[in-house]
Amino acid sequence: MRKFVVAGNWKMNTNLPEGEQLASDIMSLLGQRNFDLDRYGVIIAPPYTHLYRLGQIIDNNKIRLGAQNMGWEEKGAFTGEISADMLLSVGVEYVIIGHSERRKYQKEDDQLLLKKINLALAKGLKPIFCVGEELNDREAGKHFDVVRSQIENVIFSLEVHNMENIIIAYEPVWAIGTGKVATPGQAQEMHAFIRQMIADKFGSQVGVNMTLLYGGSCKPSNAEGLFSQKDIDGGLIGGASLKAQDFVTLVDMLIEAK
Ligand code: 13P
Repeated sequence: MRKFVVAGNWKMNTNLPEGEQLASDIMSLLGQRNFDLDRYGVIIAPPYTHLYRLGQIIDNNKIRLGAQNMGWEEKGAFTGEISADMLLSVGVEYVIIGHSERRKYQKEDDQLLLKKINLALAKGLKPIFCVGEELNDREAGKHFDVVRSQIENVIFSLEVHNMENIIIAYEPVWAIGTGKVATPGQAQEMHAFIRQMIADKFGSQVGVNMTLLYGGSCKPSNAEGLFSQKDIDGGLIGGASLKAQDFVTLVDMLIEAK
């Protein structure tokens, strides 16, 4: 069954007390809501330094923990890296892999991302794999080509049985943190394209069940149009995930739309 998800990527924001406050505000706003956890997922991906503590604050029946990144090797002399086992040991379930900010600033390429995804899956973490074109790609009409190669280079190397543990997030780079959101039509056509690729490669049932999130300036004022699209299964939220009320409103809007 396809799962609908709102995931908050806090990026490099909040210190620990601020993060504790944000997580407890989200928890209390979610309050008594009882949603079907097989059908809906709420994830927060705070900075590494917060994971252990926030794991103690959140109710696992409502929110799951994600990390924003992960090291590419299992363990060893990799100063400053955080391993899959370390994440698992503090209760992390999801890990964002291939965010455009890491592709850009840390020069992470598809080969490295494939390594990370394989390791995450082997360890039992669920990757949220990010794809998306830059503005010049879109202006040149190459957005489908860019996303196709990102998916082919990474996802197509995986085994079909891994597909149920992966989420793909389409995040057009020009929409991230810019306030410039993709139109529901632009997002839907890319999501439909991705789903078709997955279906062609792994079978139609895998395509139907795949969770595809939209990310890029998604907030309560524009989410209705996005979440109502048939191939958009939720959002990977940056800025709006730092405001408890906005984040929980997005959860409500997703449940309402699906
Ligand atoms: P914004 O919602 O701030 O545009 O960020 C989106 C994003 O990059 C989530 O991973």
